[in-house]
Parts: sequence; C-alpha cells; structure tokens
Amino acid sequence: MSKFYITTPIYYVNDVPHIGHAYTTIAADVLARYHRLMGDDVFFLTGTDEHGQNIERIAAERGVSCQAYCDEIVGRFRDLWRLLNISNDYFVRTTDQRHSEAVQQFARALLASGDVYKGKYEGWYCPRCEAFYEEEELLPDHLCSVHKRSCEWTVEDNYFFALARYQDKLRHLIAETDFIRPETRRNELLGVLRQGLRDFSISRERVRWGVPLPDDPDQVLYVWVDALLNYITAIGYGDDPVTFQRYWPAELQLMAKEIIRFHCLYWPAMLMSVGLPVPHKVFAHGWLTKDGQKLSKTTGNSIDPFALVQRFGADAVRYHFLREGAFGADWDYTDGAFIRRYNADLANDLGNLLNRTLQMVVRYFEGVVPSPTGQPEGSDRKLLDLARGLRAGLEGALQRIALQDVPVLMGELVVEANKYVQATAPWELAKARKAGDARSGERLATVLYNLVDVQRLLGWAVYPVMPWKAEELLRQLGLGVDPRASWKDVMVVGAYPAGTRVAPGQVLFPKYEA
Ligand code: MSP
Repeated sequence: MSKFYITTPIYYVNDVPHIGHAYTTIAADVLARYHRLMGDDVFFLTGTDEHGQNIERIAAERGVSCQAYCDEIVGRFRDLWRLLNISNDYFVRTTDQRHSEAVQQFARALLASGDVYKGKYEGWYCPRCEAFYEEEELLPDHLCSVHKRSCEWTVEDNYFFALARYQDKLRHLIAETDFIRPETRRNELLGVLRQGLRDFSISRERVRWGVPLPDDPDQVLYVWVDALLNYITAIGYGDDPVTFQRYWPAELQLMAKEIIRFHCLYWPAMLMSVGLPVPHKVFAHGWLTKDGQKLSKTTGNSIDPFALVQRFGADAVRYHFLREGAFGADWDYTDGAFIRRYNADLANDLGNLLNRTLQMVVRYFEGVVPSPTGQPEGSDRKLLDLARGLRAGLEGALQRIALQDVPVLMGELVVEANKYVQATAPWELAKARKAGDARSGERLATVLYNLVDVQRLLGWAVYPVMPWKAEELLRQLGLGVDPRASWKDVMVVGAYPAGTRVAPGQVLFPKYEA
C-alpha cells in the first residue's frame, strides 16, 4: 500500500467561498477518492487561511472581532464542502492553537537556520494578495494585476528569508525533476529563476492578526509563511511525529496557477532551510473564467457555488467541472454548456442506459439478473474488452492528472453499451424466446447480464466523481456499496453476482428543462 497525501490551498476567508475554490476542492476530492479505491493510505487536507491585514480590515469594517468574523466564514466553507460531498480527512484553520504553536516551532527552526536576517522593506503591497510586487509587475496606477486594486507603498522593519541562496537548488528541483506540472508552469518558473531570486520578508510589523514571531512579539509572521505551513502542521509537525512521518512529504499539492511562486519557490526553500523534504509534486490547474476573465469575488464576476449546487445537484456540478475543461488550462463557465452536457451525457446516455436495462431485467427475467450462457459473440467481446480496459485507462489518466479524461473514458463505455443494446436488440430476442427459441433465450440472458455487469463497473468508475449518484446506480443494480472496496476487486468483468434482484428506483438524472 502506498500513501497519498493530497492538499488544496487553504482558502482566504476574506469572503464567502467562491466557485473557484469549489473547483480545486472537487478535483482534489476526486483524486483522493480514486486513490482510496486504489487501496492507498490517503490523507486529504483542505482548510482556511485566516490571518493578515486584509482580515483585520474587514472585521473592523463589520465591527466584529477577527475571530468571530473568521468563524462565520469558515462555517460557510464547511457547509459548502458538506454540500459537495467533499471527503477531506482534516480541515485545518490557521487560527487553530495547534497550528499557531507548530508555526512558532517552525519559525524557531528557520531563525536558527542562518537563513533569516533583519532588514528594511520598501515596496508595493497588495493587501488582497497579501504580497509585495515589483513596480514592473503592476498595471498602470499601481494596480495589482490579479485584483485590479491599488497597491500601497509600504516601508517597515522586517525579517527576511535568504531566498536567493536557494537559486541553484530550486533551479535543479524545477528544471530536473517532475516537481511542477504542467509544463507551461514549469517554463514560467524557469523564467522567474532566470531573472534571479530576491530574498523575501517573512514578518510584518503593523499587522496584529497573525502568529507572533518567537522572540520578537512586535512582529507577526507573514501570512503566506503562516499559510504554507498548514501543509505540515495539519499532519502533526510539532506535536505528532508519527503521523507527520507517515504522510510528509505530500504526493500532490493542487492549486491554480496564480500561487505557484509561493508553492514552488518560497515553500520548498523554507523546507530545505530547516532540513525537511519537499513535496513530490505541485500541479497548477487553470482558471475557471467567464468571458475569458478569472471568476473571482473581487473582480465582481462570481457564480455562487451554493446556488449552482441547489440548481443542478452536487454530482452534476462535480461531473461538469471535470468534463468541461482540460485540467491545467483555463475554461469558460456557461449555463448553456452545463445544461447541454448534463442532458446529453448524464440524462440521455448514462441515465437511459440504466433505465432501459432495469426495465428489461424486470420484464424478461422478473427482476432477477440471469447467468450468462453460451459463448461470447463479437459484439459481447467488443463491449467487454472496452470494459476490461477501463480501469487501466482511468488509472493512466489519474497518474497524469488528466482529470478531463476520466469522464471521457467513462462516456466511451456508456456509448458502446448503448450501441450494444441496439445491436443485440434484446426485445427481438425476447420475442423469439416467447416463440420457443431456446437459443434466443440464452442469448437474451447473456446480453442482459453483460449490460448489468458493465454498469456495475461504470458505477465504480464514476464513484469518485459522482459518489451519491454512483451509490444510487449500484443500489438500483441490486448491490450494496462497501466504502472500503478496492478497484482491484470490483473493476473485474463478470463479477456481478447473477441471481441478484435489481431495485429500480427514481430516475438517476432527470432531464433538465431550461
Ligand atoms: N490563501 C491563499 C492560499 C494559501 S495556500 C498556503 C489563497 N487563497 S484563495 O482563497 O485566494 O484561493 C486560491 C485558490 O482558489 C486558487 O489557487 C485556486 O485553487 C482556487 N481558485 C480561486 N479562484 C479560481 C478560479 N477562478 N478558477 C480556478 N481556481 C481558482 O490564494
């Protein structure tokens, strides 16, 4: 058994959860669920990033304490993850006592490393990104390129981390290993490295809402340093060495492309500085956009994830987010595309296949799935070969983190199964059987068994993407769902127990009428 530690970024609580947050979290959940089915020892982490100047400001505007404000927003994140059936093993908050203590411990190790020195910081600061920018990185009028908001000229005494010292090690990590994917993001980072790295400040003087720096309580740790450390504090850095050893380093850190500098430069350098191993892989996916613009609360073109789930259901949202874009590239969200895909892939192809099959099992075999008899014919072989290859195909896609291929592969099998129904025409076989043709009766049994068996496989294949619908599908096939099941055991053609009574129920994906 291998272990699989997967993380999402911890999300800023400067506002309620946003559709972009849901995108990353759904993708991570799908990967976590697949790895559990592969029998891996999975730890799936998500959480919230709650410190910093921005939060101080918002809480003050609302006239509530920072903690009360954070608690309220964190509740909304937890609600959304429950609604989307997110299976995280832990939810980390940077305001947790446990996190703060471990952060201080890390800060002590960093101060002792010789890589930290005191200096003066002057620069353009975006309070939304909580990041300093070079003049040439900003838009005219010193607007931040992410939020299009004014940056502030800031001067203060800070502690600095000697990032420039890690230039060669980081170049090696990024250029010579598979640390960052996809390739476009690697090239982007190599470009940053070519310009030469600058040290960065790891503390703030004027901010109070944060983790105080050990030995200098006038400073709090820079919110990004505090935040990055969640990936290790959540698994016991500082207080649970056994769990920490078990899961660190992470197999996969998932995020969108705008925060890779923090994750691929600052983060590995700080880990190296204190002698900890770096994560195996960072994968940066693209943005969910509307009319080509990043969907974001601060740019005002948001989609409410709660409303979306209410309208289409959690599993349809999960499916669409995987299916619609190439994971790694940007893609535009539209209601039209959502509804088209939902009706075509889910309501028509997958949903109807199940309906038709169950109806035929009821009509021709009194609801009890027959044993297959006789030798497989050409059409059987074609369908079953495709079904046999499904697991390997899916695992390949997941290894490559080509998440869009998962629904594509499933769709191919669904289409083939629908063709199989047309080609074998069970209703004709039933007529011939009624007329006394025993051979047709055997054939009918084989065809229906194969259809049920292939849908059992589809149910398990789809389980990580649409856990609720997959359970319902398997239940209607007369099967229970063991959450500890392993793909190795269930993704086997011919494993459906003949003689089982099916349990037709409500339509899996009712057609969406706009
Ligand atoms: N708090 C930092 C991360 C600290 S991790 C140590 C942060 N938070 S955030 O709330 O702004 O969330 C950023 C992440 O949300 C992105 O990396 C991405 O995973 C997700 N997304 C937010 N908007 C998005 C889109 N429009 N499209 C895709 N994902 C986006 O940065």
